[in-house]
Amino acid sequence: MEISASDYDRFKNLLERKSGILLGDSKQYLVSSRLANFLKESNISSLADLLDQIERPSNSQLLQKVIDRMTTNETLWFRDSYPFEYMKKTLIPEFSKKGSFKIWCAACSSGQEPFSLAMLLDESGTFHNGNIIATDLSSRILDKAEQGIYQDIELKRGLPQDKLKKYFDSVDSNNWQIKSKLRNKIRYQSMNLLNAPFNLGKFEIIFCRNVLIYFSQENKTKVLNGLIDSLKPGGYLFLGASESLTRDCKKMDMIRCNPGLVYQKPI
Ligand SMILES: C[S@@+](CC[C@H](N)C(=O)[O-])C[C@H]1O[C@@H](n2cnc3c(N)ncnc32)[C@H](O)[C@@H]1O
Repeated sequence: MEISASDYDRFKNLLERKSGILLGDSKQYLVSSRLANFLKESNISSLADLLDQIERPSNSQLLQKVIDRMTTNETLWFRDSYPFEYMKKTLIPEFSKKGSFKIWCAACSSGQEPFSLAMLLDESGTFHNGNIIATDLSSRILDKAEQGIYQDIELKRGLPQDKLKKYFDSVDSNNWQIKSKLRNKIRYQSMNLLNAPFNLGKFEIIFCRNVLIYFSQENKTKVLNGLIDSLKPGGYLFLGASESLTRDCKKMDMIRCNPGLVYQKPI
């Protein structure tokens, strides 16, 4: 698909305005590889035509479909290990002693992150103490998370064998579904992180990992301050391994988990 410089700029601006996702200066190939088939299937003749249609009032469904295709949903089970180790050894025991607690997985993708947390709660005998809400901007990926069906190849990415046996039912020769006990544990909701301040209540723990890398500095700060406001005093924020708070963020204490780190909201 040929994309002119001006159509690319128009698309890039729209995507950032609606999702925060910042495309580089010459990522035409990425737009083309992610949207060419969709345009063909939808009988849309060009990127300019797509933009004209999206900008018409009441065409939010088309925008959602484009966003679904432009998000990067790369994820895996127990990603980076250390957040889950720290949860298991320190935070789950600490918060369960006090009663019930709430975890928010912001930008949960296809569910591997919240399901990894649900498995930890189950294995620590505190299943009923922890409540998990998982949100994402992409409705397509949230549908997949809610279904909880994964191919063999997805299960090989970080899921220990014993957990496959314990928490999944076979669907067919190539697919497995996570057991309903864990599926029912998680409340999924569509949520755009750009819409800070958030109205989900206050949390003891927030995971917002590997999404802010796609945002501008300004949007990162806005989202991070919204997340910090959604934490209870003494609550914890996990970011991706290559992400950190920005200069203009509200004050948080940094705790080293060796490896990795987690931020705590001052009490
Ligand atoms: C790379 S995945 C990270 C998934 C998981 N947190 C992890 O670390 O494995 C990034 C996710 O962020 C979501 N996302 C992108 N922009 C978003 C926004 N503005 N609001 C909420 N989610 C967004 C994408 O749909 C995608 O599922």
